[in-house]
Amino acid sequence: MNNIIARTINLEKTYSPGEHNEVKALKGVTTQFSSGEFVAIIGPSGSGKSTFMHLLGALDLPTSGDVEIAGKSLTKLKDNDRADLRAKELGFIFQGYNLLSTLTALENVVLAGDYAGLPAKASLERAKELLKEVGLAERFDHTPAELSGGEQQRVAIARSLMNDGRLILADEPTGELDTKNSEAIVELLRDLVKRKQKTIVMVTHNEALTRFCDRVIKVVDGRLA
Ligand SMILES: Nc1ncnc2c1ncn2[C@@H]1O[C@H](COP(=O)(O)OP(=O)(O)OP(=O)(O)O)[C@@H](O)[C@H]1O
Ligand SMILES: [Mg+2]
Repeated sequence: MNNIIARTINLEKTYSPGEHNEVKALKGVTTQFSSGEFVAIIGPSGSGKSTFMHLLGALDLPTSGDVEIAGKSLTKLKDNDRADLRAKELGFIFQGYNLLSTLTALENVVLAGDYAGLPAKASLERAKELLKEVGLAERFDHTPAELSGGEQQRVAIARSLMNDGRLILADEPTGELDTKNSEAIVELLRDLVKRKQKTIVMVTHNEALTRFCDRVIKVVDGRLA
């Protein structure tokens, strides 16, 4: 069964349209993502990968075309409904981890539960559970500065799972990690996809990591190659 969780339809994004600094970052991208699929996005710097991820994650709106998440058209939703969809269905993992430096690993993950509207107790239990799943049972009380890069990214992965959303977007999640840690993180992501039937879309510059993925999409100059 091919269960489509997200699709993009002739997606275009032009920054500063009509101005001297206009950039056509995406020039009509049509693709789809099924549940339980781990997809890599590769392509040269400036080709539009992050732009694509922002649109797919409902963080920005296209100039034309559309994105559908769980059957809902993002361009037709009201702002607060779009934010709601993001809070329920999407998880984000970024290159720089984006953890709050004054909070512990556990507090960073719990915070995402608050954003997702989980009751405090449920949020705490779930955060502990997820941190254990990513191998950080012994690191609950460490702040980001007291964690290795790979461990910080594991916290960010646990955080992205707090809302139990179906689509996880990762923009160069291993960009700051060495080969060994990069592979460990990507194997963890692949394991999540298979065990929890998540859909993960991951941008990477490291083509060796695409061997862990089900499918590779190449973006060149704002188009799928
Ligand atoms: N907010 C913005 N305003 C104007 N131009 C932008 C903006 N964001 C990105 N661009 C331009 O759009 C193009 C695509 O950028 P994007 O960040 O999507 O590339 P990328 O494929 O993620 O690159 P990298 O691999 O370096 O991260 C680039 O030419 C970039 O300069
Ligand atoms: Mg980018």
